[in-house]
Amino acid sequence: MATLKVHDDGGLGAESRTLTDAGEVRSFLAAQGIDYERWPTAHALAADAPADAVLGAYAGEIERLKQKGGYVTADVIDVSASTPGLDGMLARFSREHWHDEDEVRFIVEGRGLFHIHPPAGPVFALEVERGDLIRVPRGTWHWFDLCGERRIRAIRLFQDASGWTPHYTDSGVDAGYQPVCFGPARVPPAEP
Ligand SMILES: [Fe+2]
Repeated sequence: MATLKVHDDGGLGAESRTLTDAGEVRSFLAAQGIDYERWPTAHALAADAPADAVLGAYAGEIERLKQKGGYVTADVIDVSASTPGLDGMLARFSREHWHDEDEVRFIVEGRGLFHIHPPAGPVFALEVERGDLIRVPRGTWHWFDLCGERRIRAIRLFQDASGWTPHYTDSGVDAGYQPVCFGPARVPPAEP
């Protein structure tokens, strides 16, 4: 279940509010043109299941999205803290950018943090985790970070894989936000 943090008055240390209710998160995102769904994760998949098995398990959901959004291919991205070149890979996406096509991700394992910068609204952060599907429309200004465990496995859908090159805004806005995830346990630990 995704968590959404809205930075109403700017970046670090500013007023923010947090949405954790699935309906509220979906409504907020829908108003921004971003689709958010929860997919059942009951498919019996081993943590190390090969990509083909992941795509096969979610074939029904993938096909529905392809029909709806004109996506032609799907693949599985799989990174962990031990992935060679991870820092370089992440650096491409942790700066504010946009794409010529939708960014569609279904999270199979792990977590990640999207920051979205709407043209007429406050920046908000969406932490996605297992079972979350997000579609960020083409042209949306955004950036992405992994959470502390640096692990994500996600199905990606493409209208045209060549359109997925990041175009950087160089606005500098991203520098004002820390990639802070809530983590698996959102309730803060009790004071000792
Ligand atoms: Fe992106």
